[in-house]
Amino acid sequence: MALPAPSAPLPKAELHLHIEGTLEPELAFSLAARNGVPLPYADTGELRRAYDFADLQSFLDLYYDLMAVLRTAEDFTDLAEAYLERAARQGVRHAEIFFDPQAHTARGVPFGAVVEGLGRALDRAEERHGISTRLIMCFLRDLPAESALATLEEAKPHLDRITGIGLDSAEVGHPPAKFAEVYAAAAELGLRRVAHAGEEGPPEYVREALDVLGVERIDHGLRALEDPELVERLVRERVPLTLCPLSNVRLRTVGTLADHPLRRMMDAGLLVTVNSDDPAYFGGYVGDNYHAVAGALGLDAGQLRELARNSFLAAFLDHDEERRAR
Ligand code: ADE
Ligand code: ZN
Repeated sequence: MALPAPSAPLPKAELHLHIEGTLEPELAFSLAARNGVPLPYADTGELRRAYDFADLQSFLDLYYDLMAVLRTAEDFTDLAEAYLERAARQGVRHAEIFFDPQAHTARGVPFGAVVEGLGRALDRAEERHGISTRLIMCFLRDLPAESALATLEEAKPHLDRITGIGLDSAEVGHPPAKFAEVYAAAAELGLRRVAHAGEEGPPEYVREALDVLGVERIDHGLRALEDPELVERLVRERVPLTLCPLSNVRLRTVGTLADHPLRRMMDAGLLVTVNSDDPAYFGGYVGDNYHAVAGALGLDAGQLRELARNSFLAAFLDHDEERRAR
């Protein structure tokens, strides 16, 4: 196989990416016009100026509001296609893509329109962009557990398209154990399991995600660092953590990128990966996150390669697929 040109971006997998968080202002305005949805912003500049977040909740408020423009299967296809095109340019070879079905079904958009719309873009992602994909359905943890169970029921006719489940949205006050039943039911169905934990919530939520939900990866997990025993366990059990450095700065879970613990986490032996979370809102796609941490934390080429290698190790790929993707 030919070596990549020196300027080619490092091949990588992206494991923590909310497809709704890739909705760029330009696409939001064009979908708003196509669907006749009014937006409370004069133009894309005014919308971008609203991306000044105090914490996770202030981001989520805007994130859910802007989803109003996503109405049809075609909208979801266009959204995913735009992400895949950008991701390919940043070296992404494999993407495990989160979506938030409850945020759409609650607005009257059928579950099937969301999954089939995303699926149309993902079906041609290998051919068009050289990216293999997985779809991970996230439950909104600030909604009742019953709503998550009903969503799993709705997903059943579409399980050929869905690899796993996740847990996202407002973390504090919504511990993982609230979702024990739906995670057990999903495991019975053969679905892979991940969860956001330790983004704003305490280390105990990380432990609960592992012990009660049986997750295979932790999304974020930053606050695990407050508990040395938990860190030791994460190292010992090789639990992957999907970090999102630019997101952490924008949502003020870390002060500046130079304060980000990613390098310390690598040095501690944790299996960390770099991802973009909601790139349209946080100032960069996954390659931009690599570039930003390399600069701010002084990572060398070997450390960047380690992060990329970790991303394939932590992916839901079988051995042969992993080798081909790298
Ligand atoms: N949904 C989209 N982005 C999220 C994040 N960073 N944390 C929790 N829920 C989210
Ligand atoms: Zn996230």
